[in-house]
Amino acid sequence: MKKLLVALLVFVLMGSGAAQAHQPVELLKTDTTAAKGPLLVDGTISFAIRASFTKAGEKKGFRAQLQEGDALNFQYLIMDKKPENALKMTQLPTLVVTGPGGFKTTMKLNERTKFLETFSQTMYLYLGRHSSVAKSGVYSFLLTSRGKASITLGVGDKEIPGEVLRGPAPTPTASAKASANASASPTIAGYTMAQVKANNSAKSCWAVVDDYVYDLTKWINSHPGGPGAIVSLCGTDATASFKAQHQNQAKPAVRLDSYKMGPLQK
Ligand code: HEM
Repeated sequence: MKKLLVALLVFVLMGSGAAQAHQPVELLKTDTTAAKGPLLVDGTISFAIRASFTKAGEKKGFRAQLQEGDALNFQYLIMDKKPENALKMTQLPTLVVTGPGGFKTTMKLNERTKFLETFSQTMYLYLGRHSSVAKSGVYSFLLTSRGKASITLGVGDKEIPGEVLRGPAPTPTASAKASANASASPTIAGYTMAQVKANNSAKSCWAVVDDYVYDLTKWINSHPGGPGAIVSLCGTDATASFKAQHQNQAKPAVRLDSYKMGPLQK
């Protein structure tokens, strides 16, 4: 009963979007490659990816999108209870991560460090950790089982709500097309102001201009008017600031358009 209550509480806390520790994402049977699995839109936000396998040779994958210079952090964990904590390292799934610029690493399972997950009061064991500086692009994570086992991968460290997409990664052309078609296509829900507000730093900088959402992260250090002018817009409705500076100027308007993500959901 106590367990059920704790589980329910975790569900309520997670569901409400309140302060979150490692948002859970369960990999499905159909997530057999990284491309078929979910996409973490911002891989610096804290997620707990859970994967269960019933026998050897099963594959499950997902992707995480990162910007140039972001921290690429991921950890390999199991629950500190049977049967997982009785398995040898060689019986656990292998994890191979590939990414932009020829990045490829196989996770080394070389530690057994206890870690108490405070939400669920569950004791975990860290078996391996990776930390490096990311290149801009999508990182692919692929697990291959070597027997029955359930594991958890921790990705990212920012404790804010994050977005998880299923389906192909959005490409600039696809999102430009989507926003061009936005009025004709009511199925495109767009982005909420809460999501914009969550991307309020130079690491991930979203802003609204005239009811469209823009990802200005890559523009910060290229802006001829200085990075400060853009950083101060991160996470805000920047319509007034943009117009005050650049009303009726072609170059800023064209540049802005190249960062369009989609309409603001109202
Ligand atoms: C969404 C945001 C913005 C975009 C996409 C943007 C884009 C641009 C572009 C393309 C230029 C070069 C224009 C040219 O060569 O003709 C420029 C210049 C400039 N921007 Fe922005 N801008 C943005 C926001 C702002 C804001 C909020 C400010 C001020 C608070 C600002 C201040 C300036 C200044 C002062 C210059 C001229 C720099 C110079 O030529 O010395 N910009 N911006």
